[in-house]
Amino acid sequence: MNTNPISILVIDGDAVSRNYLTVMLRKSGYAVLLAPLGREGLISAWKDRPDIVVLDPELPDVPGLEILTRLRQDRRTSKIPVVALSSRQDSQDKNALLSAGCNDYLTKSSQALSQLLELIPRLLREESIIHGKRGILEVFLSAKGGTGTSSLCANIAMCLGHEKIETRVAVMDLVLPIGSIADIVGYTYKMNLVTVAKESPVLTTAAYFKDNLPRVPNWYFHLLAGSPDPESANQLEVNRLDGIVNAIIESYDYVLVDLGRGLSRISLPIIQKADAVVLVVGSDLSTAILTRTVWEYLKSQGIDQKRLYPLQNRAVGLEGLTKSELEKMTGTQIRLTLPYMSGNVTVANNRHEPLISKFPNDSSTFTLKEAANQIAELGQHSHTW
Ligand SMILES: Nc1ncnc2c1ncn2[C@@H]1O[C@H](COP(=O)(O)OP(=O)(O)OP(=O)(O)O)[C@@H](O)[C@H]1O
Ligand SMILES: [Mg+2]
Repeated sequence: MNTNPISILVIDGDAVSRNYLTVMLRKSGYAVLLAPLGREGLISAWKDRPDIVVLDPELPDVPGLEILTRLRQDRRTSKIPVVALSSRQDSQDKNALLSAGCNDYLTKSSQALSQLLELIPRLLREESIIHGKRGILEVFLSAKGGTGTSSLCANIAMCLGHEKIETRVAVMDLVLPIGSIADIVGYTYKMNLVTVAKESPVLTTAAYFKDNLPRVPNWYFHLLAGSPDPESANQLEVNRLDGIVNAIIESYDYVLVDLGRGLSRISLPIIQKADAVVLVVGSDLSTAILTRTVWEYLKSQGIDQKRLYPLQNRAVGLEGLTKSELEKMTGTQIRLTLPYMSGNVTVANNRHEPLISKFPNDSSTFTLKEAANQIAELGQHSHTW
């Protein structure tokens, strides 16, 4: 799951400098990976995909220039920022590395650490601007109303934000004509989808949402609430939606969108863009039949099976189709089944409390967390930067 802090791979043959960098970088909040040899460094870079590589070009096994060249030649690491941190001030070495695609060259000195700490955020920013880095988009939809889509969207977002506090999670309620997430989480601010869509696109940039999207107390996420009533929904400028979604995914690590049963011309482009498509399925016959139709349609619109996360939710009771019956009828593979939680969901929703806070020891709480993790992982896998 991409909930970790920024990770830095230090490839350095010198134990003292390796340890020093580890301590200092960790102090600054970075996760540090270490490789004392070039070969190990390459393997770690390809496997662990750090955000930045700090490379001492004088390694015991392979020359730094060769490491750099191999990083640049491999698709997985071709764009990763690399900073050379050398104990020698050698302009020939420096030029060779810089022309091979090294982003910067520092010399080990008393200022090296402060230079490096200044350089890292700049390189990350440049990289994300150049390569259009964006967060993971997870959409939640169902073929039929009342299957628990909104409750699950809010609670799964909460699990995600709760597990790793440094991860920025946003929820968008795009259910028309009335959103319900605001009600579930007890959101009281004025800002909502309709008010935001009325603003000029010049204002509603990624930076705007990063700074202004209200964070919901106790829910560990920021919310763009939905339309408060049908009258407001009528005023919604739907052609603004795509731009708003894009700006929010640029400024958050995870964006979870409640689409309800709103499979439409408006929601389809958002579904096509999503890294994970969570299809909430009830256990009754009519939902199963409708879900099959929806899934067939999504497939015809280019939604890949790998991005689909069919989630069975027993929202109405214990009875109904079994998982395998549901799979047969819907033509999907159910990834997880959430049990019937009797009145618990309603009680938690009425009190605007997350399920995992209200019922921390309930087994369904663990299933919910598992769903949150699996969906995030699926989104990670299909995500292209
Ligand atoms: N696993 C569950 N166990 C018990 N009750 C549930 C479960 N999941 C959802 N519910 C209840 O089902 C009802 C519908 O939930 P929710 O509003 O989240 O569904 P929805 O699919 O978003 O509905 P809508 O079509 O109105 O948007 C709520 O009263 C909720 O408390
Ligand atoms: Mg709903």
